Amino acid sequence: MGLKKYKWQKVAEGEAEIEWSRDGIGVVALEDGKKICLAREGDQWYGFAFNCPHAGGIMAEGWLDGDGNIVCPIHRYKFSLKNGRNTSGEGYHLKRYPVESRPDGIYAGVEEGGLFKWF
Ligand code: FES
Repeated sequence: MGLKKYKWQKVAEGEAEIEWSRDGIGVVALEDGKKICLAREGDQWYGFAFNCPHAGGIMAEGWLDGDGNIVCPIHRYKFSLKNGRNTSGEGYHLKRYPVESRPDGIYAGVEEGGLFKWF
């Protein structure tokens, strides 16, 4: 119950292929062309929406605050990398994507619509 199902997509052959901003935020594209952002802390990778849920700020132009948050460059709302919670308290939620570094590339998980598939 309540377990999300993800379809995993390779978004890069490796870390070196990703373009990283000066502040350590990468941008990659999913299979449907939609862009998402990446960040990492040590071995832990994070994926999150390209646009801010508040007014569409480009999260890749934001920065990491050192307390586990990504900060939007427009109005500086903060969002937890771990769960997308709006830790500066404005009540928004940043969509997140699980990301894994595997031997053959970097993968992002995209939620599968919440319906069971039987075939
Ligand atoms: S657009 Fe991101 S905080 Fe307003």
